[in-house]
Amino acid sequence: MKKIILTGDRPTGKLHVGHYVGSLKRRVELQNSGEYDDIFIMIADAQALTDNADNPEKVRQNIIEVALDYLSVGLDPAKSVLFIQSQIPELTELTFYYANLVTVSRLQRNPTVKSEIQMRGFQASIPVGFFTYPISQAADITAFKATTVPVGEDQAPMLEQCKEIVHKFNSVYGETLVDPQILLPDNAACLRLPGTDGKAKMSKSLGNCIYLSDPEEEVRKKIMNMFTDPNHLKVSDPGQVEGNPVFIYLDAFCRDELFAEYLPDYACLQELKDHYTRGGLGDVKVKKFLNNVMQEELAPIRARRHEWEQRIPEVYEILKTGSETAEKVAAQTLTDVKRAMKIDYFNDQALIAEQSERYGN
Ligand code: TRP
Repeated sequence: MKKIILTGDRPTGKLHVGHYVGSLKRRVELQNSGEYDDIFIMIADAQALTDNADNPEKVRQNIIEVALDYLSVGLDPAKSVLFIQSQIPELTELTFYYANLVTVSRLQRNPTVKSEIQMRGFQASIPVGFFTYPISQAADITAFKATTVPVGEDQAPMLEQCKEIVHKFNSVYGETLVDPQILLPDNAACLRLPGTDGKAKMSKSLGNCIYLSDPEEEVRKKIMNMFTDPNHLKVSDPGQVEGNPVFIYLDAFCRDELFAEYLPDYACLQELKDHYTRGGLGDVKVKKFLNNVMQEELAPIRARRHEWEQRIPEVYEILKTGSETAEKVAAQTLTDVKRAMKIDYFNDQALIAEQSERYGN
């Protein structure tokens, strides 16, 4: 069986370092591993509209931001199909048919939908499109016959819901859809990178994100202002590394080789953590090191972004070509689905012959 990746992001803002360690970095590694037959990376604008229906301009503006972020981290249009969800009408058609296989109570129990309803204050009036977006996400995944879906931990309930739709579809209509596997980051710190303020999640509205497109100085400022252990007041005080955002970021970004260059008194992250825990290591020193570590990772991304920023029409062209390629694949799946569901009337000579015979001709 072919190995196929599908994943994507809503274009509601620039992508941040949480997206990067949670999913983007892995995608690029998978892309370059050569182990996958096809890779589809989708800008999920139709999904973004499910809770931004009154703000289409925001979605429109952020298409290019996400595309630039993709290209700058190293997603390569020669190896991965980069496309825009709304340009693939087959996805909405699949969504409509899958909706028959999902109950309202099942959607109400989806933990991601539940928490997003909370976050957006939708309790009293949930848009139907928003409520059913897990079904549309199942269409995204199955349309490309994806075997592997690299995403952050928050997407796990979406994958569960998708698998249920696949199983139900296949049991009712016959083996048609591919059962996808989720691929989570294997480094625990990358599963959910906290905000620079120590809050559990990075979010634009909280102003606690470091963006991939932030200039060097901006990144430095954000790191130097980062929340640390609130009880670590004097350098000599023992400090806590668990739950300390500075150390969580180091867990996510640091490679031991970087000590030789930036902090040669230590050989590895564990030694630095031990010193902090004992006391005698100041936050500023650790933050300066974190800044060096992160700048090392972000500098090539920033440089590639500047190059692509000079070639905007070409970026739109990449998305257009990608969307054309993606549509062909989705159209084939829709044909398979319609055949399985017995709504392929005009392609079925046997049906026409059978009905003729029934009427005695
Ligand atoms: N829900 C994802 C997000 O919020 C975006 C997305 C839409 C997606 N369809 C997908 C991710 C299919 C993986 C697979 O970022």
